[in-house]
Amino acid sequence: MAPAAAKLLLTDLASGIDRVPDNYIRSEADRPNLTEVEASDASSIPLVDLQGLSGPNRDDIIRQIGRACQQDGFFQIKNHGIPEEKSERLKNYCDDPTKSTRLSTSFNLNTETVSNWRDFLSLHCHSLHEWPTNPPSFRKEVGEYCTRVRELVLKLLEAISESLGLEREYISQNLGKHGQHMAMNYYPPCPQPELTYGLPGHTDPNLITILLQDDVPGLQVLKNGKWVAVNPIHNTFIVNIGDQMQVISNDKYKSVLHRAVVNCNTERISIPTFYCPSPEGLIRPAQGLIDHEHPAVYKSFTWEEYYHKFYYRVLRTECCLDMFKIHSA
Ligand code: OGA
Ligand code: NI
Repeated sequence: MAPAAAKLLLTDLASGIDRVPDNYIRSEADRPNLTEVEASDASSIPLVDLQGLSGPNRDDIIRQIGRACQQDGFFQIKNHGIPEEKSERLKNYCDDPTKSTRLSTSFNLNTETVSNWRDFLSLHCHSLHEWPTNPPSFRKEVGEYCTRVRELVLKLLEAISESLGLEREYISQNLGKHGQHMAMNYYPPCPQPELTYGLPGHTDPNLITILLQDDVPGLQVLKNGKWVAVNPIHNTFIVNIGDQMQVISNDKYKSVLHRAVVNCNTERISIPTFYCPSPEGLIRPAQGLIDHEHPAVYKSFTWEEYYHKFYYRVLRTECCLDMFKIHSA
């Protein structure tokens, strides 16, 4: 099974070619326009220092997180408590994942018309038995990393709940059981990066995403109508609000469009953790955020209904959140 799957990977195709194959070329209206992307500066994506989150600085840090969720939908975190060697090892982990049945390429070959310049290994963090057994340390290393990220997410969910004026436990108690997925994205060097994407613009459908990346730029975030290139900062994580958080916050916090572009010279690895409700988890705007001036924007739905719509929607341009809005007369 592995050799057949491996044949389909971009990684095998991408080395030693000097032109992008036709099925990766975007129509002219849908290209990254790399010359128009803004460089990021210190103010583009707020950097939040989590030092003191459970101490005297808590209120101040919560205010910073709240502001970032509301204005940017994205922030970076330092002093996050995940030891550097855990994340460092992981960034180098794409050496031999070919045994996994979840190794794939692009996004969804069944529904897309143009492919993405990306291979990925996708893991469900609660079902270790499906995980690659090779290399032998894979389960231990990656499993430990997943546990630490989960602890970090739970801290962030408390802080975000408080920043919304909700009970500290509100968000984590309103997801059903929790779900956690992880992807290891591998973006090979690309001979014509101006014609294609690693991942085209999208919002994350889940609750909150914690992105670990190497030091090669590639992530871009839409800010005030312009794409801004994120400059990786060593030993930080990027955090972004997903669609489910936008719903729970009743549109106060924003799930923001972002994309990954590729480059000619260097491969890039990114490792997002997608934290989610469980499939039967019922999602709806928090009661405490609904009043006369702020009527509920969304109906309630299960995460299963949502991701079904997300993965099977016909037009990629359809905004999934819109399909769950309460339409006022
Ligand atoms: C994603 C994503 C960005 C990146 O996987 O949803 O947005 O930099 N990745 O790889
Ligand atoms: Ni994303």
